[in-house]
Amino acid sequence: MKKFIAGLFLSTSLLIAATGCSGEASQNENILIMGTNAAFPPFEYIQGTEVVGFDVDLAKLIADQLDMELQIMDMEFNTLTGAVSNGIIDIAVAGMTNTPERRESVNFSDGYFSSKQMIIVKNDSSIESTEDLAGQSIGVQLGTTGDQFISSFAKDGTLQNAEIIRFDKGALAIADLLNDTVDAVIIDEEPAKNFVAAQDNLQILEAPFIEEEYAIAIAKDNTELTDQINSALASIKASGQYDEIFNKYFESAE
Ligand code: ARG
Repeated sequence: MKKFIAGLFLSTSLLIAATGCSGEASQNENILIMGTNAAFPPFEYIQGTEVVGFDVDLAKLIADQLDMELQIMDMEFNTLTGAVSNGIIDIAVAGMTNTPERRESVNFSDGYFSSKQMIIVKNDSSIESTEDLAGQSIGVQLGTTGDQFISSFAKDGTLQNAEIIRFDKGALAIADLLNDTVDAVIIDEEPAKNFVAAQDNLQILEAPFIEEEYAIAIAKDNTELTDQINSALASIKASGQYDEIFNKYFESAE
């Protein structure tokens, strides 16, 4: 995609209108356009006017390896895979879990981070486990794996009478938890820790959901870029650069 066009795009809808479905993102070989949803600290969040975070640092290292310039577009999480398929962005790097459903529409790189879902409740909440979520209202981010898991529990009857409230951003779900509009929030582990650390009346409960693997989404037909990204990831891991950015954003295991 040409630089000046990319700079002009303000919203996803404008982008879709302007570019159609012609795979424009890959046209300029020197620019790698990363789509993300910058409300997911510490993977991506806004600092001042900039999108920063672990995923941004990782994508910059990848772009360096490919000798490309990284450009970032912040968009709604549930529009990212479509934007990859339509060529509006080259890659989605958004703490995105590699799932079978998403693999139907995009390619995924090798995994770069393991995660799982957590339940956040207030300190004085009566909710102590997943079973206690029955009959409660539960906030999730629209289209995330947290949304999928809890929605399937509600559908198959594991969770009776739960009301699932879907937010565009995890932070909005947390805001509604703080003002008692929802009783619990389901969100990925590291963002959960981040949100809870910023408040003094929230706590995390372990959710018994399966382990997830974050990966970079790439257009399904673009095996060349998928291979390039996997090689870049491997060399970033081998060179110690991955550990450097890991240590910048996360407490080490020991
Ligand atoms: N890992 C979850 C998923 O893939 C949540 C990701 C949300 N990411 C974000 N940048 N808001 O569905």
